[in-house]
Amino acid sequence: MDIFRKETAEAVSAGSAAVPSQADQKQEDEYLTIALTKGRLASQTMELLGRAGFYCEELGDKKSRKLVFVNEEQKLRFFLSKGPDVPTYVEYGAADIGVTGSDIIMEENRRVYEVLDLDFGKCRMCVAGPETARELLRHHDMIRVASKYPNIAKDYFYNRRHQTIDIIKLNGSVELGPMVELADVIVDIVETGSTLRENGLDVLEEVCPISARMIVNQVSMTMKAGRIREFISRVRDAVNA
Ligand code: PRP
Repeated sequence: MDIFRKETAEAVSAGSAAVPSQADQKQEDEYLTIALTKGRLASQTMELLGRAGFYCEELGDKKSRKLVFVNEEQKLRFFLSKGPDVPTYVEYGAADIGVTGSDIIMEENRRVYEVLDLDFGKCRMCVAGPETARELLRHHDMIRVASKYPNIAKDYFYNRRHQTIDIIKLNGSVELGPMVELADVIVDIVETGSTLRENGLDVLEEVCPISARMIVNQVSMTMKAGRIREFISRVRDAVNA
Protein backbone atom coordinates (compact mmCIF):
# COMPACT_ATOMS: atom_id res chain seq x y z
CA MET A 1 0.00 0.00 0.00
CA ASP A 2 2.86 2.36 0.83
CA ILE A 3 4.52 1.58 -2.49
CA PHE A 4 1.27 2.30 -4.32
CA ARG A 5 1.02 5.64 -2.57
CA LYS A 6 4.60 6.51 -3.40
CA GLU A 7 4.12 5.64 -7.09
CA THR A 8 0.94 7.68 -7.20
CA ALA A 9 2.67 10.69 -5.68
CA GLU A 10 5.55 10.38 -8.13
CA ALA A 11 3.19 10.02 -11.08
CA VAL A 12 1.30 13.15 -10.00
CA SER A 13 4.43 15.17 -9.57
CA ALA A 14 5.93 13.91 -12.85
CA GLY A 15 2.65 14.70 -14.60
CA SER A 16 2.48 18.24 -13.34
CA ALA A 17 6.15 18.83 -14.18
CA ALA A 18 5.51 17.65 -17.75
CA VAL A 19 2.86 20.28 -18.55
CA PRO A 20 4.12 23.60 -17.24
CA SER A 21 2.93 25.60 -20.23
CA GLN A 22 -0.66 24.37 -19.88
CA ALA A 23 -0.57 25.19 -16.18
CA ASP A 24 0.76 28.66 -16.95
CA GLN A 25 -1.94 29.19 -19.56
CA LYS A 26 -4.63 28.07 -17.10
CA GLN A 27 -3.30 30.54 -14.57
CA GLU A 28 -3.52 33.34 -17.12
CA ASP A 29 -7.16 32.42 -17.90
CA GLU A 30 -8.24 32.26 -14.28
CA TYR A 31 -9.91 35.16 -12.53
CA LEU A 32 -8.28 36.78 -9.56
CA THR A 33 -11.02 37.44 -7.03
CA ILE A 34 -10.54 40.41 -4.74
CA ALA A 35 -12.63 41.10 -1.63
CA LEU A 36 -12.95 44.78 -0.79
CA THR A 37 -14.20 46.39 2.40
CA LYS A 38 -17.41 48.35 1.76
CA GLY A 39 -17.31 52.10 2.27
CA ARG A 40 -14.41 54.51 2.35
CA LEU A 41 -11.72 51.81 2.22
CA ALA A 42 -13.26 50.48 -1.03
CA SER A 43 -12.91 53.85 -2.81
CA GLN A 44 -9.37 54.34 -1.53
CA THR A 45 -8.47 50.78 -2.58
CA MET A 46 -9.88 51.27 -6.10
CA GLU A 47 -8.02 54.55 -6.40
CA LEU A 48 -4.76 52.77 -5.48
CA LEU A 49 -5.49 49.81 -7.79
CA GLY A 50 -6.21 52.30 -10.60
CA ARG A 51 -2.73 53.78 -10.09
CA ALA A 52 -1.36 50.22 -10.31
CA GLY A 53 -3.20 49.76 -13.65
CA PHE A 54 -6.13 47.64 -12.42
CA TYR A 55 -9.61 48.94 -13.09
CA CYS A 56 -13.26 48.24 -12.56
CA GLU A 57 -15.36 51.20 -13.67
CA GLU A 58 -18.66 49.67 -12.50
CA LEU A 59 -17.38 49.88 -8.92
CA GLY A 60 -17.44 53.68 -9.07
CA ASP A 61 -21.26 53.81 -9.26
CA LYS A 62 -22.20 54.84 -5.71
CA LYS A 63 -25.95 54.33 -6.27
CA SER A 64 -25.58 50.72 -7.35
CA ARG A 65 -26.49 47.91 -4.92
CA LYS A 66 -24.49 45.40 -6.96
CA LEU A 67 -21.98 43.36 -4.97
CA VAL A 68 -19.82 41.63 -7.58
CA PHE A 69 -17.99 43.43 -10.39
CA VAL A 70 -15.97 41.90 -13.19
CA ASN A 71 -13.22 43.25 -15.40
CA GLU A 72 -13.27 40.67 -18.22
CA GLU A 73 -10.25 42.09 -19.98
CA GLN A 74 -7.96 41.84 -16.96
CA LYS A 75 -9.68 38.72 -15.57
CA LEU A 76 -10.37 40.43 -12.27
CA ARG A 77 -13.46 39.96 -10.14
CA PHE A 78 -14.16 42.31 -7.23
CA PHE A 79 -16.72 42.01 -4.49
CA LEU A 80 -17.75 44.21 -1.61
CA SER A 81 -18.25 42.90 1.89
CA LYS A 82 -18.30 44.03 5.50
CA GLY A 83 -14.74 44.45 6.82
CA PRO A 84 -14.80 41.58 9.34
CA ASP A 85 -15.94 39.18 6.60
CA VAL A 86 -13.00 39.96 4.29
CA PRO A 87 -10.47 37.70 6.11
CA THR A 88 -13.12 34.95 6.18
CA TYR A 89 -13.61 35.06 2.39
CA VAL A 90 -9.85 35.02 1.92
CA GLU A 91 -9.15 32.19 4.37
CA TYR A 92 -11.71 29.94 2.68
CA GLY A 93 -10.49 30.84 -0.82
CA ALA A 94 -13.73 32.54 -1.91
CA ALA A 95 -11.40 35.47 -2.60
CA ASP A 96 -7.74 35.16 -3.57
CA ILE A 97 -6.93 38.61 -2.24
CA GLY A 98 -8.57 40.89 0.31
CA VAL A 99 -8.14 44.45 1.48
CA THR A 100 -9.18 45.52 4.94
CA GLY A 101 -7.89 47.22 8.08
CA SER A 102 -5.15 45.73 10.23
CA ASP A 103 -7.55 46.11 13.19
CA ILE A 104 -9.90 43.61 11.55
CA ILE A 105 -7.08 41.27 10.50
CA MET A 106 -5.79 41.18 14.09
CA GLU A 107 -9.23 40.72 15.58
CA GLU A 108 -10.31 37.94 13.19
CA ASN A 109 -6.94 36.14 13.31
CA ARG A 110 -7.62 34.08 10.17
CA ARG A 111 -5.10 31.88 8.38
CA VAL A 112 -4.12 34.26 5.56
CA TYR A 113 -0.90 35.85 4.38
CA GLU A 114 -0.62 39.56 5.08
CA VAL A 115 1.48 40.84 2.19
CA LEU A 116 1.31 44.61 1.98
CA ASP A 117 0.71 47.73 4.07
CA LEU A 118 -1.29 50.02 1.76
CA ASP A 119 -0.48 53.17 3.73
CA PHE A 120 -4.03 54.54 3.93
CA GLY A 121 -6.93 54.08 6.34
CA LYS A 122 -4.53 55.17 9.03
CA CYS A 123 -5.76 55.46 12.59
CA ARG A 124 -4.84 54.21 16.08
CA MET A 125 -6.23 51.47 18.30
CA CYS A 126 -6.53 53.07 21.72
CA VAL A 127 -7.72 52.61 25.24
CA ALA A 128 -10.02 55.58 25.86
CA GLY A 129 -12.26 56.78 28.64
CA PRO A 130 -12.83 59.60 31.11
CA GLU A 131 -9.74 61.13 32.73
CA THR A 132 -10.79 59.51 36.02
CA ALA A 133 -10.13 56.08 34.52
CA ARG A 134 -6.36 56.79 34.41
CA GLU A 135 -6.11 55.83 38.08
CA LEU A 136 -7.84 52.49 37.46
CA LEU A 137 -5.31 51.74 34.73
CA ARG A 138 -2.38 52.86 36.84
CA HIS A 139 -3.34 50.57 39.72
CA HIS A 140 -4.16 47.61 37.47
CA ASP A 141 -7.61 47.46 39.03
CA MET A 142 -10.17 44.98 37.78
CA ILE A 143 -12.00 47.07 35.18
CA ARG A 144 -14.75 46.66 32.61
CA VAL A 145 -13.65 47.23 29.01
CA ALA A 146 -16.17 47.69 26.19
CA SER A 147 -15.01 47.02 22.63
CA LYS A 148 -15.91 45.93 19.11
CA TYR A 149 -12.50 44.22 19.28
CA PRO A 150 -12.62 41.80 22.25
CA ASN A 151 -9.62 39.76 21.06
CA ILE A 152 -7.40 42.81 20.62
CA ALA A 153 -8.57 44.18 23.99
CA LYS A 154 -7.90 40.87 25.75
CA ASP A 155 -4.49 40.51 24.17
CA TYR A 156 -3.52 44.04 25.18
CA PHE A 157 -4.69 43.84 28.78
CA TYR A 158 -3.74 40.21 29.49
CA ASN A 159 -0.45 39.89 27.62
CA ARG A 160 0.95 43.42 27.54
CA ARG A 161 -0.44 45.05 30.67
CA HIS A 162 -0.85 41.82 32.68
CA GLN A 163 -4.16 43.14 33.95
CA THR A 164 -7.29 41.08 34.46
CA ILE A 165 -10.37 42.69 32.96
CA ASP A 166 -13.99 42.04 32.21
CA ILE A 167 -14.62 42.38 28.46
CA ILE A 168 -17.96 43.57 27.14
CA LYS A 169 -18.45 43.12 23.40
CA LEU A 170 -20.32 45.96 21.66
CA ASN A 171 -21.08 46.36 17.96
CA GLY A 172 -20.78 50.11 17.49
CA SER A 173 -20.93 53.55 19.13
CA VAL A 174 -18.61 52.06 21.74
CA GLU A 175 -18.00 55.52 23.24
CA LEU A 176 -21.38 55.13 24.94
CA GLY A 177 -19.89 52.45 27.21
CA PRO A 178 -18.19 54.73 29.78
CA MET A 179 -20.81 57.47 29.30
CA VAL A 180 -23.70 55.32 30.52
CA GLU A 181 -21.46 53.46 33.01
CA LEU A 182 -21.55 50.16 31.24
CA ALA A 183 -17.74 50.10 31.19
CA ASP A 184 -14.77 51.96 32.71
CA VAL A 185 -12.87 52.30 29.43
CA ILE A 186 -13.14 51.31 25.77
CA VAL A 187 -10.70 49.83 23.27
CA ASP A 188 -11.51 51.35 19.91
CA ILE A 189 -10.10 53.01 16.83
CA VAL A 190 -9.40 56.73 16.92
CA GLU A 191 -8.95 58.56 13.66
CA THR A 192 -9.53 62.30 14.05
CA GLY A 193 -10.37 62.05 17.76
CA SER A 194 -13.57 64.05 17.29
CA THR A 195 -15.95 61.29 18.50
CA LEU A 196 -13.99 61.06 21.76
CA ARG A 197 -13.78 64.85 22.14
CA GLU A 198 -17.47 65.43 21.51
CA ASN A 199 -18.31 62.88 24.17
CA GLY A 200 -15.91 64.05 26.85
CA LEU A 201 -13.52 61.10 26.58
CA ASP A 202 -9.74 61.00 26.10
CA VAL A 203 -7.14 58.68 24.69
CA LEU A 204 -5.57 57.05 27.76
CA GLU A 205 -3.17 54.62 26.10
CA GLU A 206 -2.23 53.68 22.55
CA VAL A 207 -2.45 49.99 21.66
CA CYS A 208 -1.08 50.06 18.09
CA PRO A 209 -1.22 51.97 14.81
CA ILE A 210 -3.70 50.74 12.18
CA SER A 211 -3.73 50.90 8.37
CA ALA A 212 -5.26 49.10 5.39
CA ARG A 213 -3.51 45.85 4.45
CA MET A 214 -3.59 43.40 1.57
CA ILE A 215 -4.08 39.75 2.50
CA VAL A 216 -3.81 36.64 0.31
CA ASN A 217 -5.26 33.13 0.49
CA GLN A 218 -2.52 30.63 1.33
CA VAL A 219 -3.41 28.17 -1.46
CA SER A 220 -3.86 30.88 -4.11
CA MET A 221 -0.39 32.17 -3.23
CA THR A 222 0.97 28.88 -4.61
CA MET A 223 -1.61 27.95 -7.24
CA LYS A 224 -1.83 31.42 -8.79
CA ALA A 225 1.70 32.44 -7.84
CA GLY A 226 2.55 34.28 -11.07
CA ARG A 227 -0.57 36.43 -11.22
CA ILE A 228 -0.61 37.19 -7.52
CA ARG A 229 3.07 38.12 -7.35
CA GLU A 230 2.62 40.47 -10.29
CA PHE A 231 -0.50 41.97 -8.71
CA ILE A 232 1.28 42.58 -5.39
CA SER A 233 4.35 43.99 -7.08
CA ARG A 234 2.35 46.50 -9.16
CA VAL A 235 0.32 47.60 -6.14
CA ARG A 236 3.51 47.90 -4.05
CA ASP A 237 5.04 50.15 -6.73
CA ALA A 238 1.89 52.30 -6.70
CA VAL A 239 2.03 52.58 -2.89
CA ASN A 240 5.71 53.62 -3.02
CA ALA A 241 5.38 55.99 -6.01
C1 PRP B 1 -15.30 54.49 14.40
C2 PRP B 1 -14.77 54.23 15.79
C3 PRP B 1 -15.05 55.53 16.49
C4 PRP B 1 -14.89 56.56 15.39
C5 PRP B 1 -13.53 57.20 15.49
O1 PRP B 1 -16.66 54.30 14.41
O2 PRP B 1 -15.41 53.13 16.38
O3 PRP B 1 -16.36 55.56 17.01
O4 PRP B 1 -14.98 55.85 14.14
O5 PRP B 1 -13.34 58.18 14.50
P1 PRP B 1 -12.87 59.65 14.87
O6 PRP B 1 -11.69 59.53 15.77
O7 PRP B 1 -12.52 60.28 13.55
O8 PRP B 1 -14.03 60.36 15.53
P2 PRP B 1 -17.52 54.09 13.10
O9 PRP B 1 -17.66 55.39 12.38
O10 PRP B 1 -16.93 52.99 12.31
O11 PRP B 1 -18.96 53.72 13.66
P3 PRP B 1 -19.41 52.77 14.86
O12 PRP B 1 -19.01 53.45 16.12
O13 PRP B 1 -20.87 52.67 14.73
O14 PRP B 1 -18.71 51.48 14.68
